Amino acid sequence: MGILYWVSALLLLLLRLSGVPTVCGNAELRALMEIKLSLDPDNKYLSSWTSDGDPCSGTFVGVACNDHRKVANISLQGKGLAGKISPAVTELKCLSGLYLHYNALTGEIPSEIANLTELTDLYLNVNNLSGTIPSEIGDMGSLQVLDLCCNQLTGFIPTNMGSLKKLSVLALQHNRLNGPIPASLGNLEMIKRLNLSVNQLSGFIPARLANITQLEVLDVRNNTLSGVVPPSLKRLNGGFHCENNPGLCGVGFPSLRVCSAWDDANVIQVEPFKPIANNTSSQSIPASANFKPHCNQTHCSGSSKLAQVAIVSGVITVTVVFVIGGFLIFIRYRRKKQKIGNTFDASDSQLSTDQGKEFSYRKPASPLVSLEYSNGWDPLADSHDGIGASYKFPPGFKFNLEDVESATQYFSDINILGKSNFSAVYKGILKDGSVVAIKSINVTCCKSEEAEFMKGLSLLTSLRHENLVKLRGFCCSKDRGECFLIYDFASKGNLLQYLDVQDVSRHVLDWPSRVSIISGIAKGIRYLHSSEPSKPAIVHQNISVEKVLIDGNLNPLISDSGLLKLLADDVVFSALKVSAALGYMAPEYITTGRFTQKSDVYAFGVIILQILSGKSKLGHLMRLAAESRQLEDFIDPNLGGKFSDSEAAKLTEITLACTDERPDLRPTMEAVIEELSKCGGTC
Ligand SMILES: *[C@@H]1O[C@H](CO)[C@@H](O)[C@H](O)[C@H]1NC(C)=O
Ligand SMILES: *[C@@H]1O[C@H](CO)[C@@H](O)[C@H](O)[C@H]1NC(C)=O
Ligand SMILES: *[C@@H]1O[C@H](CO)[C@@H](O)[C@H](O)[C@H]1NC(C)=O
Ligand SMILES: *[C@@H]1O[C@H](CO)[C@@H](O)[C@H](O)[C@H]1NC(C)=O
Ligand SMILES: *[C@@H]1O[C@H](CO)[C@@H](O)[C@H](O)[C@H]1NC(C)=O
Ligand SMILES: *[C@@H]1O[C@H](CO)[C@@H](O)[C@H](O)[C@H]1NC(C)=O
Ligand SMILES: *[C@@H]1O[C@H](CO)[C@@H](O)[C@H](O)[C@H]1NC(C)=O
Ligand SMILES: *[C@@H]1O[C@H](CO)[C@@H](O)[C@H](O)[C@H]1NC(C)=O
Ligand SMILES: *[C@@H]1O[C@H](CO)[C@@H](O)[C@H](O)[C@H]1NC(C)=O
Repeated sequence: MGILYWVSALLLLLLRLSGVPTVCGNAELRALMEIKLSLDPDNKYLSSWTSDGDPCSGTFVGVACNDHRKVANISLQGKGLAGKISPAVTELKCLSGLYLHYNALTGEIPSEIANLTELTDLYLNVNNLSGTIPSEIGDMGSLQVLDLCCNQLTGFIPTNMGSLKKLSVLALQHNRLNGPIPASLGNLEMIKRLNLSVNQLSGFIPARLANITQLEVLDVRNNTLSGVVPPSLKRLNGGFHCENNPGLCGVGFPSLRVCSAWDDANVIQVEPFKPIANNTSSQSIPASANFKPHCNQTHCSGSSKLAQVAIVSGVITVTVVFVIGGFLIFIRYRRKKQKIGNTFDASDSQLSTDQGKEFSYRKPASPLVSLEYSNGWDPLADSHDGIGASYKFPPGFKFNLEDVESATQYFSDINILGKSNFSAVYKGILKDGSVVAIKSINVTCCKSEEAEFMKGLSLLTSLRHENLVKLRGFCCSKDRGECFLIYDFASKGNLLQYLDVQDVSRHVLDWPSRVSIISGIAKGIRYLHSSEPSKPAIVHQNISVEKVLIDGNLNPLISDSGLLKLLADDVVFSALKVSAALGYMAPEYITTGRFTQKSDVYAFGVIILQILSGKSKLGHLMRLAAESRQLEDFIDPNLGGKFSDSEAAKLTEITLACTDERPDLRPTMEAVIEELSKCGGTC
């Protein structure tokens, strides 16, 4: 042994003296022997690798050297190797290709492999490797092909993989990877093929990924991804594969279902309000591109408190799981929202006294609009001989401005219950001592056709039901440029305040109250949908937990019924946008842009699940839990298990039926109420 060593040392010295470059020859031989020991412990397949041989002589099976006699490629694919990858590979500093695929290798991918900064091709696919993908892999700046497919790899896809600037093929399919697809993969500017199929990846597909111009193939089949597929992936045509991800949705992808309320907050990645591919709706709902708000954009673009709450809570939920992805979506959303510069409805019924004094709705949008109303617009005025005179309103329906002023203590800020860009709600006390909520609406946001406005007002006054907030009267002030709707006051706020309850000692509704509230809402909607001598059948269009007020006896009262009939189309449109962002919008609205009674039924279904779960935000997982009837997985833990299994099961069936993606499969409210009546005395 000693003699051999000296002989080889002498040979090396001679070689060096003769000018042949062998700088790392010896170290590389040692590394190869170590690699062999690890890959092929039984010396079955690599017997040609001998410690006294010359790796660059061509006798070492699978080893190829470059012109500088350094190991450049190791190609041992399909050799039956059953060992492990040795960290010693890192000694092969000039290695450009490592081909170990189709073997039976076990163990982990050594993190030292990342020191191979010259490596362009790494093929470890179809082995039995386990453990996680080393995060150091992001340092391998030369890597062009990384194939780790068909192993047993676990854990997350490392975020810093996004720094592999030259990577053109990334194959991670058929492993057990979980966690999100890192948004950083959007930095892989050379990536052509990305196969992530058959893993357990979750979260959504980062929009930035869709933006890579080189990308030709993206395969995410058989994962647990959710949310909205970035529309720009349509560009890949047949190169995009996403089947078997029950949580994914999108518009224009044949294999995907349409998005619905159940899809995560990133539903706002698309514009659900823009009618797509069908003409019928374009007149009734203006597309956002044509949208010109009546009100001053600067003021109207501020989102309502509720919208913010919804967005923030959505973002928090998403962020906890997928920090980066969620953030991007949020940014996107904000940007989009600002771009559209839209008006947003607000939580008019929410108790809130801390909102500033600057009321945008008081400022007319343009002189033109003000002119329209300067002609003594007061439909209820006695002297008025216009259309208003032909309407018969109930006695006492007409209020004076003085009534309203004194009730609200001259619109004192301390009486503000909530406000939005086009309206504000004040608490007030009438002279007879009754407590009312007074909704003021800027005339510039009302229908400009007086006849239409009066028709709407007449409809509003015809609605009377124990589960609708009662309209007491109306008043219009030319001087203030405002109209006022005077409603009974609901002393216990709105249903939203009973969701997401942190402080369990307050605000938690017990089970019987929840059941009776659901039942009451159902009755209210059925009434709206029914056609009666005193009123036509109407669609509410904008039902949400926030629109369900709660009176002193914990009865639900649906608010704003028919209100949209008073408002200008663009104001209606913006109000509906909020409803869509909150997830109450039936999926067919996204494509047809039309509201039907079945879209109210859908929103009702969402509300049931919100009440059952005690959560305002429902994710796809919640839907799955409901679908699999795993009551304990979604019934509000704040109930402490105090609920009736049979009632909960029945309500779950109803919520699922009401939120069926196909409107024709949703029950009518009449059928819902019949089902509710079957579930015991309380329903
Ligand atoms: C290493 O493999 C690559 C890809 O097969 C090949 O292009 C390159 O010529 C090989 N290098 C050597 C030194 O054999
Ligand atoms: C690999 O590189 C890291 C620094 O990036 C160094 O600390 C480590 O010693 C290197 N390992 C080998 C085996 O060269
Ligand atoms: C892969 O490794 C697992 C244990 O980690 C073993 O049960 C399985 O048989 C191996 N499969 C193959 C094809 O070697
Ligand atoms: C992704 O990998 C799977 C499994 O290896 C394969 O069947 C599929 O064809 C690949 N996807 C694409 C688009 O090549
Ligand atoms: C996509 O690329 C365009 C321009 O190339 C850029 O404006 C946009 O912000 C990118 N989107 C994302 C999500 O990165
Ligand atoms: C993908 O999922 C489908 C449906 O669940 C299943 O039939 C199929 O076998 C899965 N494919 C693979 C490669 O696991
Ligand atoms: C438009 O809607 C009608 C009825 O809802 C439907 O029959 C038709 O196929 C739709 N057209 C397109 C282009 O989607
Ligand atoms: C859409 O409606 C416009 C007019 O409103 C009509 O000119 C056009 O042909 C319609 N397109 C389709 C696809 O029906
Ligand atoms: C909105 O109002 C602000 C101040 O009232 C004004 O500076 C701005 O120009 C207005 N913007 C539009 C679009 O009218």
